[in-house]
Amino acid sequence: MPYAVVTGASSGIGKEFAIQLSKLNYELILVARRKEKLQETSKLLKNPSLIYEVDLAKEEECRDFFEKIKDLDIAIFINNAGFGECGEFIKIDDKLELQMIDVNVKAMHLLTKLALNKLKNQQAYILNVASISGLFPAGPYMSTYYATKSYIVSLTRGIAKELKDNNYPVYLGTLCPGPVNTEFNRVAHVQFALKGISSSKCVSYALKKMFQKKVIIIPTMKLKIATFLMRFCPAKLIIHLASKQQKRKLSK
Ligand SMILES: NC(=O)c1ccc[n+]([C@@H]2O[C@H](COP(=O)([O-])OP(=O)(O)OC[C@H]3O[C@@H](n4cnc5c(N)ncnc54)[C@H](OP(=O)(O)O)[C@@H]3O)[C@@H](O)[C@H]2O)c1
Repeated sequence: MPYAVVTGASSGIGKEFAIQLSKLNYELILVARRKEKLQETSKLLKNPSLIYEVDLAKEEECRDFFEKIKDLDIAIFINNAGFGECGEFIKIDDKLELQMIDVNVKAMHLLTKLALNKLKNQQAYILNVASISGLFPAGPYMSTYYATKSYIVSLTRGIAKELKDNNYPVYLGTLCPGPVNTEFNRVAHVQFALKGISSSKCVSYALKKMFQKKVIIIPTMKLKIATFLMRFCPAKLIIHLASKQQKRKLSK
């Protein structure tokens, strides 16, 4: 079987992608910084997997990683690694925000380009994990995170149209989940204001829609309706509601 690459496979959504893709018989290429956690993921898989300890915040490490895997038979590339931070923009540590931009935006951008150049003439799948926040006009008290996820949604939508116009067989789409119960909250120092779904539910839906080649994937009917209704609301109102929601997280 060909390989499936999953970045951020040491926990949460990425770990679940690895488990479910392994059940579909793919061999896994697991990427993250915490090697021991990747080894734990690897033990849960049906087939032997390759483990790469990579800090995706570092461009050279992203390039070196891709160089090592570029000649393998890859059918699926899940660009999942990412993190957030909550709080007032003026108070959040700028180094942490720049690291967030390096992982959520720059690594995602670079790996999308490298993967596309390798896979463009194949029936292959590249899925960028954004967030429902990427469909919002802005997200006060998590402003940088929302902005990084908007970048992913915009970039993916743009490239997907180019691929379609130019008849490339490769699929590119983006997963936009709402709250999912993972390590995300601990890393972002927040508690969800809404009830989260399991990674297992999120990933099984994502894979179903990815194989159907849907460009924007939103798990849960509630969120799909909310994002549909958002189209008819003024941006100012949505930003006001998002602000209230994020403030509730901060006070928990
Ligand atoms: N949970 C949610 O509610 C939710 C909702 C919408 C979107 N998302 C998105 O889903 C993706 C996965 O998040 P999650 O919820 O599964 O959170 P998680 O459990 O904290 O997992 C994040 C993953 O990203 C990896 N990562 C972070 N920084 C990295 C770096 N510099 N280099 C390499 N890997 C790095 C982490 O691995 P190491 O720490 O081992 O490096 C970990 O495997 C993220 O892009 C997140 O924004 C999550």
